Amino acid sequence: MMRIPTPLPAVSERLRAVRKRTLALFGLVTSDDVLRCEPMTGFRPLLWHLAHIGVFQNYWLLQQCADRPSTNPEYDLHFDPIKTPREEARRLPERGEIESYLDETLREAEDFLAAAEPAVPCGPASLTPAYAADLVIQHEYQHQETVAFLLQALPIECKRQVPEPEDVPRRYPPGDIYVPALRVGIGARDEAGFAYDNERPRYEVNLAAFFIDRDLTTNAEFVEFLDAGGYENRAWWSDEGWAWKVEHGIAAPLYWERAAGGAWYEKRFAGLGPIRADAPVTGVSWFEADAYARFRGKRLPSEQEWEAAATWDPVLNRQAKPAAPDDAGRRDGELPERFGPCAVGTIRDGRTPLGLNDATGNVWQWTASAFTGYPGFVPYPYPEYSSLWFDGDHYVARGGSWFTAPTLRRPSFRNFYRRHFRPAFLGIRCARTA
Ligand code: AVJ
Ligand code: FE
Repeated sequence: MMRIPTPLPAVSERLRAVRKRTLALFGLVTSDDVLRCEPMTGFRPLLWHLAHIGVFQNYWLLQQCADRPSTNPEYDLHFDPIKTPREEARRLPERGEIESYLDETLREAEDFLAAAEPAVPCGPASLTPAYAADLVIQHEYQHQETVAFLLQALPIECKRQVPEPEDVPRRYPPGDIYVPALRVGIGARDEAGFAYDNERPRYEVNLAAFFIDRDLTTNAEFVEFLDAGGYENRAWWSDEGWAWKVEHGIAAPLYWERAAGGAWYEKRFAGLGPIRADAPVTGVSWFEADAYARFRGKRLPSEQEWEAAATWDPVLNRQAKPAAPDDAGRRDGELPERFGPCAVGTIRDGRTPLGLNDATGNVWQWTASAFTGYPGFVPYPYPEYSSLWFDGDHYVARGGSWFTAPTLRRPSFRNFYRRHFRPAFLGIRCARTA
């Protein structure tokens, strides 16, 4: 059957789509005070993220690519995470002022792009307009996800009501998938369209045979770890994980609370409720994911194993070009229909050719891999995106969550957080050596 290629929406349409989603997300907040407060200890106010999105667009598209002067040099300084540390990031303009700045920047960006030659490098950083546009679009979607997990942390009164997925049983029984020894390509193909510097260059690797769990680890499975004294058993934990756990008194995932009768409740995006047995566990650090896997006699997959398992097609006997997410394009400007992870295995068309469920679209999956550059890595277009974080403490998470925008849900995309980090939509998929 011939597939009719879907034409890529024009770039200004995509810039407007991502902005529509940003504004819809901020529209979930019930008062401007919420935007100005510290959403979690040590995190910048939500309004900072809104301004930062504009500053990033202004900088890369207008200043670096179009070679225009900054619209607001004070904003450039104040809403740069490196130049202005968190403690000083609290002096915030009014929401209306920031929104006007965003509007003005977007309008100028559209003017520039309408006349620009998309593939011809220009400006001080010698970026192509096509690359700069994709960069700012991806960046805006990424900050949306940060804003979303910060919103999850905020009390329910801070947010408008949103629908949650239905609480249904898992679709498949637990099980794992055999992945034979393979030679696979890791990273973005040159022709794949936008990719970050850390997804390139694509390289080949030989993997030994392994098993990978068909499904994400569920809350019910994680309760078994808890009930078996998993948090108290030194044997399951890495040295650093144990030290972290002891120092912070960690005894359950981030948002879990035990009710008087012993039942577990959790704070989800849409509010507090009994944990859903068959939804994926989330709110776990890398240390907890690592300990849980050891408890099962398993381990976390390396990011190469994850990518191989997510892309391998056993029928074609090669890596499949990932299908475009079914909702790509059409839903770029929309928030998710339902807020929160769903029972494992229940995402429509959520299976990879090898049979992995929820590779993307439910929760991100921690991997065993520290975040580093691939062989031949070159920072582009700035070291603060990737290489600044090649520090041995940032680990890679793969896949994508229920909130993640379709354009970020590519098998080569590498998310990365410090190992103790828990508030993002992060979960567990275990593997074991065959
Ligand atoms: C480390 C990939 C999670 O989304 O906060 C955002 C990426 N870099 N702005 C984030 C990032 C610059 C970052 N992640
Ligand atoms: Fe950023």
